[in-house]
Amino acid sequence: MARIALGVTGGIAAYKAVLLLRLLSEAGHDVRVIPTANALRMVGTATWEALSGHPAHTSVFEDTTGAEHVEVGTWADLLVVAPATASFLARAAAGIADDLLGTTYLVATCPVLVVPAMHTQMWQHPATRANVQVLRARGTHVLEPATGRLTGTDSGPGRLPEPPEIAAAALALLAEPVLRGTRVVVSAGGTREPIDPVRFIGNRSSGRQGIEIARAAAQLGAEVELVAANVDSALLAGLPVVVTHVETAAQLAERMVTRAADADIVVMAAAVADFRPAAASDHKVKKDTGLALTLEQTPDILAGLVARRRPGQTVVGFAAETGDDAGTPRAHAEAKARRKGADLLVFNEVSDTKGFGDVPNDVVMLDAAGSEVARAAGSKADVARAVIHEVARLRGVARMSR
Ligand code: CTP
Repeated sequence: MARIALGVTGGIAAYKAVLLLRLLSEAGHDVRVIPTANALRMVGTATWEALSGHPAHTSVFEDTTGAEHVEVGTWADLLVVAPATASFLARAAAGIADDLLGTTYLVATCPVLVVPAMHTQMWQHPATRANVQVLRARGTHVLEPATGRLTGTDSGPGRLPEPPEIAAAALALLAEPVLRGTRVVVSAGGTREPIDPVRFIGNRSSGRQGIEIARAAAQLGAEVELVAANVDSALLAGLPVVVTHVETAAQLAERMVTRAADADIVVMAAAVADFRPAAASDHKVKKDTGLALTLEQTPDILAGLVARRRPGQTVVGFAAETGDDAGTPRAHAEAKARRKGADLLVFNEVSDTKGFGDVPNDVVMLDAAGSEVARAAGSKADVARAVIHEVARLRGVARMSR
């Protein structure tokens, strides 16, 4: 889920921005609307707020508690201005920041998509042509208006493209391969610690979340290796990444440490056994001899990877928690985030219906101080995209392409 700021300026086509807002939200994105004062003469605040689920402020003086004039611009992964009037193009080209949309435009370092709509004469006027040229030279994406019926009976170039077309252009900007050239290593699955040649200590992790993380990173152009611990090969079919199979915590640790030496992003999504038999029997233990296991602790792979983190490397861990007498799941996760020191710890609560297997997931992402930086919910693929997106944001690449 990406964060989209939708600026709406005072053109008659503002009503089409309502549909655009719907399309972007239905595509799973969090959209905040910034109407200009004139846009509110076309479509009222109640519509924007009800459909976006956020306040829709116009002026920087409506909410002065949280520096909203800076906050929305830094929050957004994409700024779309549709419709953009001739006046907006002029103000943006000149850097005039006399309302919330103006300040947001200047603050945003994310990609910006501007969708002009105006009468043909205004679109073709040298002043507008020059402004569009300035904006494009600055890296702002300015869509060509459609040709067709305008506000009255007249027609020509200047019509707002239809909302699905604008949504497609917006989503294409969000899908830019921002991780191209980035090396990613992801662990997935659950380790198995042998007791004897036929028995092991294992866990219930299917590997689905890690697989989806690997897929999401590959979809953004990264070179990905998946270190798969006992993952059903049917789940790996068609996955566009290199897969290395491992079985035990020791094998997983060895492969992760090797790959992390030159990786930019390291994700520990595997469920690693915390204890293993101190000595595995080399023959099958017969039941009439009885079985007493002495367990020893496995090394904490994630903590080791954090300790060896290269400059510029981003390390991500996962924490599936249940509550107990010592604290809530959230409290355990916050303590774990601080203890492990990963750049991002993706926490989810585990119960009979949450967390394992082919079920939806609900996660909170914490930084190394245990503070919440993002949330995501939905399928494991949705959560994976949100996690990778957050990693890209942490690395500064989600907002570099303007
Ligand atoms: N992890 C690891 N090595 C281990 C155990 C866990 O790298 N030996 C990683 C997991 O891949 C995950 C994170 O650490 O990214 C948290 O795993 P979890 O099992 O929740 O943490 P533990 O350190 O085992 O904490 P506890 O048993 O106290 O809950």
